[in-house]
Amino acid sequence: MLKHLVIYASETGNTKKLAHEIYSSLPVPLKDKEIVDVRTWHGQFDAENYFVGFWSNRGSCSLEIIDILSSLHDKNVALFGTCGMGNTDEYFKSLEQNARVWISDDNYFVDSYFCQGKMPPEVRDKYESYRGLCEDSKLDMMLNFYNDALEHPNRHDLLNARLFVDNCLTRIKELDLAFV
Ligand SMILES: Cc1cc2nc3c(=O)[nH]c(=O)nc-3n(C[C@H](O)[C@H](O)[C@H](O)COP(=O)(O)O)c2cc1C
Repeated sequence: MLKHLVIYASETGNTKKLAHEIYSSLPVPLKDKEIVDVRTWHGQFDAENYFVGFWSNRGSCSLEIIDILSSLHDKNVALFGTCGMGNTDEYFKSLEQNARVWISDDNYFVDSYFCQGKMPPEVRDKYESYRGLCEDSKLDMMLNFYNDALEHPNRHDLLNARLFVDNCLTRIKELDLAFV
């Protein structure tokens, strides 16, 4: 069994970037860790620690990610991902909560990390097409999120992903010590 498994869903590459940062910062030999795109996942690996990543679609994760999360038992599970909206702790917390409901209680939920990720230009075009049809202030807020997200994930986000891994490994170690 592997020590660490990173599984991620990524449509346009933002979450993939975080996933690879997380994978490369895991301080174990290559034979003890793996990284898998959810599209090629068929249950081929098992691990003690799962880092599961997704992009936010309507504030939640995809069915493939839900399937993986709900199949886990007696694992340490950490969540990560990217989103277009928000960039506030409250929004990131809501993404965590929405995914966490699929993790059964016999696992140890470690922590989560989210950051913004740039959206394709079609999203901006869609917002612009609503001009005149909904409140300008609401539209401007969405366009601000769109513009803010354009530079993410950036170097700072990737550094935070590494700190997230450090924090997760410390928590897992503490848990292990508590059961010695
Ligand atoms: C069709 C679509 C729906 C989206 N829905 C949301 C959403 O509900 N909430 C949000 O915060 N971001 C939303 N986004 C933005 C993505 O979550 C964000 O750009 C993310 O970084 C994409 O990650 P990826 O590159 O790994 O696919 C949406 C993007 C697209 C293209």
